[in-house]
Amino acid sequence: MNKPIAIITGASTGIGQSLSIKLSDKYFIYLVSRNKEKLQKTAELIKNKNNQCKMIVADVSRRKSIDLIYSQIKNKQDIELLVNNAGIAIFNNISKLSIDDWDKQLNTNLRGCFLMTKMIIDDLKSKKSGKIVFINSVAGLNPYKDSTAYVTSKYGLRGFSSALREELREYNIKVISVYPGAIDTPLWNNMGMDDLRQEMMTIDDISGIIINAINSPNNCTTEEITIRRVAGDF
Ligand SMILES: NC(=O)c1ccc[n+]([C@@H]2O[C@H](COP(=O)([O-])OP(=O)(O)OC[C@H]3O[C@@H](n4cnc5c(N)ncnc54)[C@H](OP(=O)(O)O)[C@@H]3O)[C@@H](O)[C@H]2O)c1
Repeated sequence: MNKPIAIITGASTGIGQSLSIKLSDKYFIYLVSRNKEKLQKTAELIKNKNNQCKMIVADVSRRKSIDLIYSQIKNKQDIELLVNNAGIAIFNNISKLSIDDWDKQLNTNLRGCFLMTKMIIDDLKSKKSGKIVFINSVAGLNPYKDSTAYVTSKYGLRGFSSALREELREYNIKVISVYPGAIDTPLWNNMGMDDLRQEMMTIDDISGIIINAINSPNNCTTEEITIRRVAGDF
């Protein structure tokens, strides 16, 4: 019997890389992101565990990429899990925020999740099983200054995933939204936050909690989890 398939976006670094490596024990992983070299690193780490994966170099925000991603997935009836994790953050006040940076964040963090979900949804519906994980943020629950585009994308994602959950109940598809606070990942590179990084949550701790949620048994689902530092947000 084939291993079930998990598709993980943003698998080249950070949370997506960690989830890909850990989930490869149970799933055949399709690794999706734009940077081939970094994706190769994740693929190597999975192969070092004697687990299997395939890389798909693609930009999730582009309509055409979605066709390319779908065409590269074999055994579509085995798709069991989609982790919508790819995301970018460009923090700036509204005067300095460029229209391009607004578009990039909305297109990656929100449109990308919609496109990826739409891509596989009929495969999950037809077999009446599956799980879709959305890596949101505490910025999808609370507003923060200098981050209008990021907050908008994550509030939008909260709306999308919540409505989707209601729609998919009758198909036995679990929709899991994760709302983490700050985690020490490459997302914070070159943001002038280096002093705070060692006080952030770790990638391994976060990915372990997410995997527990994915593994909720039988007819139980972990619908939403908020994961913060004990000390609270920065
Ligand atoms: N770090 C935090 O403090 C934190 C807190 C809450 C929520 N989050 C969320 O967690 C998710 C993962 O972020 P991270 O912290 O792990 O940061 P990260 O290390 O920068 O990872 C982001 C990933 O997304 C990929 N990506 C970006 N744009 C893409 C696109 N258009 N198409 C395909 N892949 C794309 C990147 O790969 P390529 O460059 O190879 O495309 C990378 O693999 C994001 O949604 C972020 O909003 C992070």
